[in-house]
Amino acid sequence: VELALNRASDVPLYRQVVEQLGELIRSGVLATGSRLPTIRALADTTGLTRLTIQNAYLELGALGYIESHVGRGTFVAARTVPAITIRDSDALPPVSWTTQGILADLLSEPTEGISFARAMPDPASYPLRALQGMLREATEDPVLLGYGPVGGDPLLREGVSRVLLERGVVAPPEAILITNGAMNAIDLTFRTLAQRGDVIFVEQPTYPGALEAAARQGLRVVGLPLDDEGVRMADLESHLVRHQPRFLYLVPTYQNPMGICYSTPRRAQLLALARTHGLTIIEDDIYGLLPFERAAPPPLKAGDTDARVIYLSSFSKSFIPGLRLGMVTAPVAVLADIARTKQHSDLNSSPLLQRALALYLRRGHLGAHLAAVRALYRERCAAMQDALARYLPHCTWTEPEGGLTLWLTLPHGIDEAVVYREALHEGVGVARGQVFYPQPQAEGHLRLSYGAVSPALIEKGIGILGRVVAAHLRRRDALADRARREALPLM
Ligand SMILES: Cc1ncc(COP(=O)(O)O)c(C=O)c1O
Repeated sequence: VELALNRASDVPLYRQVVEQLGELIRSGVLATGSRLPTIRALADTTGLTRLTIQNAYLELGALGYIESHVGRGTFVAARTVPAITIRDSDALPPVSWTTQGILADLLSEPTEGISFARAMPDPASYPLRALQGMLREATEDPVLLGYGPVGGDPLLREGVSRVLLERGVVAPPEAILITNGAMNAIDLTFRTLAQRGDVIFVEQPTYPGALEAAARQGLRVVGLPLDDEGVRMADLESHLVRHQPRFLYLVPTYQNPMGICYSTPRRAQLLALARTHGLTIIEDDIYGLLPFERAAPPPLKAGDTDARVIYLSSFSKSFIPGLRLGMVTAPVAVLADIARTKQHSDLNSSPLLQRALALYLRRGHLGAHLAAVRALYRERCAAMQDALARYLPHCTWTEPEGGLTLWLTLPHGIDEAVVYREALHEGVGVARGQVFYPQPQAEGHLRLSYGAVSPALIEKGIGILGRVVAAHLRRRDALADRARREALPLM
C-alpha cells in the first residue's frame, strides 16, 4: 500500500496523508487494530519530513481514526469517535457549508423521486381554503397593505401569546416580536447578542442555519455533544470554565437533526447552570407543537424564573413554512434591542400574512390542524423506523417522539458523501450529516425527514437507501478480506 502524494497540489502534504490514510481506514484496507508505520519510517518511505507525518497522525488521532500507545506504536482505532474531541482551540468559526457548496446538498432534491432531505411539513396538510378566506379578509383592510409596526401585527402577537401559553410559556403580546420565520429570529438574536470573534455554544449536531448565521457573523463556535437526554452537562461545565460564551443555542424539543427530546431533569439542570453562571440560553422550540403521543415537556422558558432564556419559534413546521412567520420573546431590554436589529434589517414582517395567520389562530383552527398532522407524522415516523429495521439493519437511528426528523448513523467505514450521492442518483434525497456540525466529522450520518412522504414512498425510498448502503458494505468487507488474505505489509 502506497501513498500517492502530489507535491504540485494546493492541498498541503500533511492533509494528503490524512485523506489517503483516512480513505484506507474507511475502506477497510487498513483494518481495525493494524499497526501503522512509525513516524520516522513513514517519513523515510514518503520522503516527507517527520513533522509533516506527525501533524498528519495528530489529525488522524483527533478524527478518531488512529490511536497511539506509548511504547507500542500507532494503531487503527476500533471505531471512529462520534465527534472530534473538543480542545481549547476548537472555538473556531464554523466551516461555512454554504461557501463550500455542501449545504446545497441539503437543499438538492431528486426532481422526480423521493425526498427525505428537508424537514418539511406535509404540503397536503395545508388548510388552503381557510387560508384563502383569511387572506381575502386581510386584503380588505388598507392598513394591512402599508408598513406595519416592527414588533408585528398586534392581533398576531395576541394569538401567538395564547399559543405560547399552551406550551407553558407566559409572554404577554408586548413581549413578543414577530419575525420572518425562526431563521430570521435566530439571525437577529445572534446579531444582537454577539459580536465578531465572540464564542457561542451550540449542540453538536445542530441546525445548519444557526451555524451559517454564526459563520457569517464571524462568531466562534463550540459544539457540545448530545446524549439521548440532551447536551451533556459535564462537557458544558468544562467549557464554561474555559470560555465565556455569549449564549448557548439549543433545540431541546424534538431536536433538529437528531429528533431527541431533552429529559425533564436535564432541562432543570440547564436552567440551574444558567442561573449560577449567568449563562444566556437561546431556546429554539420550532418543533415543540409536534409531539406524537406523549405531551411535549414544557420548554426551558416555562421554568425561566431568572430571565436567562430567550425563546424563539415559528409556524413553519407546525403549519405552513411559506408564511415565513415566527417569533421571539426575551426580557424587555433584550427584546427592544432585537427589535432595533430587525428594524434596521427588514423593517417589519408582512402585515398581510401576519393578519391572515392571526385570523386563523383567533378562530381556533390551529388545534384541529395540529391534532391531524401529529397523527400523520407519528404514523410516518413509525413507517420509517419499520423500513429501516428491514432495509438498513447495520445502521442505528434515533427514535423520535415528535418532530419531523430522525438521525441515522452509518456503519463504520461507510462514507456518507458517497451514500448521499448514490442515493440521489437513484432518486432518493437525504441530508448529509456533515452539514449539522461546525467542523468536519469522521463518522457518517444522514438526517431523514419523514413528514412530507407517504408511508408507501417511505417504504420504497428506504428500500433504495438500504441497497445503496448494502453495496458499500459488501465493497468494504471485500477490501478488508483482500487486505487480510494478501497480508499486505502496511506501507
Ligand atoms: C431548529 C430549526 N430552527 C429554525 C429553522 C428555520 O425555520 P423557519 O422556516 O421558521 O425560518 C429550522 C428549519 O428547518 C429548524 O429546524
